[in-house]
Amino acid sequence: MEFICVTLMIIIGITDSTADQFAVVGPVDPLLAVSGEDVILPCSLKPNISAVNMRVEWFRLDLKDSVVHLYEDHEDKNTNQLQSYRGRTEVFKDELQKGNTSLKLSRVQISDEGLYKCFIQSKTRSDDITVDLNVEAVGSPPLITVDGFDVSGGLHLQCESKGWYPEPELVWLDSEGVTLTSGTTDAQRETDGFRVKHMITVYNRDSKYHCRVKLRHHMKETEIIISSKMFNSWRILMILISVGSVLGVIAGLLIVVFIYKYKGLQKKNQILKNEGQRLKSEDQRVKNEERKIKNERQTFSLREKGTVESVKSLLRKYAVNVTLDPDSAHPDLIVSDDGKQVRCGQQSGTVKDEDQKSNNKFDRELCVLGNEGFTSGCFYYEVQVKKLSRWFVGVARESAERKGWISLNPVSGYWMAGLRGGKYQASEGSSYVPLSLSVKPQRVGVFVDYEEGRVSFYDVESMCHIYSFTEQSFNAKLHPVVSLGYVYSKNSSKAPLIICSDLS
Ligand SMILES: *[C@@H]1O[C@H](CO)[C@@H](O)[C@H](O)[C@H]1NC(C)=O
Ligand SMILES: *[C@@H]1O[C@H](CO)[C@@H](O)[C@H](O)[C@H]1NC(C)=O
Ligand SMILES: *[C@@H]1O[C@H](CO)[C@@H](O)[C@H](O)[C@H]1NC(C)=O
Ligand SMILES: *[C@@H]1O[C@H](CO)[C@@H](O)[C@H](O)[C@H]1NC(C)=O
Repeated sequence: MEFICVTLMIIIGITDSTADQFAVVGPVDPLLAVSGEDVILPCSLKPNISAVNMRVEWFRLDLKDSVVHLYEDHEDKNTNQLQSYRGRTEVFKDELQKGNTSLKLSRVQISDEGLYKCFIQSKTRSDDITVDLNVEAVGSPPLITVDGFDVSGGLHLQCESKGWYPEPELVWLDSEGVTLTSGTTDAQRETDGFRVKHMITVYNRDSKYHCRVKLRHHMKETEIIISSKMFNSWRILMILISVGSVLGVIAGLLIVVFIYKYKGLQKKNQILKNEGQRLKSEDQRVKNEERKIKNERQTFSLREKGTVESVKSLLRKYAVNVTLDPDSAHPDLIVSDDGKQVRCGQQSGTVKDEDQKSNNKFDRELCVLGNEGFTSGCFYYEVQVKKLSRWFVGVARESAERKGWISLNPVSGYWMAGLRGGKYQASEGSSYVPLSLSVKPQRVGVFVDYEEGRVSFYDVESMCHIYSFTEQSFNAKLHPVVSLGYVYSKNSSKAPLIICSDLS
């Protein structure tokens, strides 16, 4: 009996060790699961020994060996389980004894698609298989919308369906089942699968159209019936819309053209206006310029006048009331009673040579001295020489020679300038220098600065300087002197030389 027991024990021991010999088996083909439904990922031991004491691990090969489900030490240990599988995995505890280590995956998601490893480990050995899970999602029934009217008169029909996985096939069919779909279907990947869209243009009235979305053995279909009424209303509406938009476009164009033209006109107007303004301003500028020039001229002439006036007034400050001394006058000169005028002419009943005053007279030169004598300071007088063909004016030393043919020059004690032989001259040194005058002086001013040794002649009208004797030494009393030439003839002008008395 003991022997039998030992033998049994040995046999059991042997069977135990042989029982540990196992392989893991599973499906060869990929598994297909429908989204939202449950799926069992098959995995079992061969032979069908118990897996209760083994470690059963399911993990995703394609997701860095992430844990999907772990059974170990007789219980589920899912602390490291992937978040997306939480609460959705289960091994069949009852089936484990029969070596069935399949995994139940509840409420399949699209993201569950992938490669799963079923890894079984006993105390002595381990084995595994890979399960390829494909997930498919059946989307919503297609939705057909009438999407507008074609220019050619067709109606746009759009079919759309979403929530498909993987990408489904969309077809449009007419009432006879003929495929109408042409071109590519618009497909978009979304979190809950693919959204597909396709639009066709139909021309037949009173007909039926189907939109069919297919995925393997799943299919969803929607139909639409287009009535001619709908077609017409659409057409009318579209025609109205088209006409409206055409009219709108035309109106818009007209408005644009109008605005453009108006703007152009405005622009042209503006340009003309600007040009006008510019011309006006130019005109104004020219006018201003003219005015400025006029002003300048005026101020200039004023200044000139002012200068003339100021020079005149400056000189006239030294004006003296010159009267002519008849006693010094040549016998052929007639001096007026007030001593202000002298002219050629023979006096009737002239006093003869015996006259005691005759020694003072000029006997050849038709000269006469002024009464006033000067030995210092400045003096000035003016003489009117209008209409005279011969005249000489200036100053003379009181002591200067008066008899015979005297030269009226500084050497002889005469500082004079005037008109002789048709030429304007000044006596210089022992001769005469010609003077070039732009005007014929009508009135001549004589200015004497005794200390400076200066005798200057001016045309009073313009206050132009005619001539100056400078740096002269007078050294004696000076008198104004005037001459009407040196030869008396009956033809000689009877016009008088006048000492001006209107200077103040
Ligand atoms: C194991 O499989 C055999 C035949 O394949 C069967 O007869 C037996 O009942 C199975 N054992 C269990 C525990 O299911
Ligand atoms: C394992 O158990 C499950 C659940 O009972 C069953 O659907 C499946 O067919 C079993 N697999 C095998 C290989 O027995
Ligand atoms: C100039 O002198 C004369 C004679 O002495 C005199 O009659 C006359 O009033 C004086 N003229 C002036 C402006 O002083
Ligand atoms: C005086 O004038 C007359 C005519 O104008 C002329 O014929 C005559 O020669 C002149 N006499 C003298 C001296 O100039």
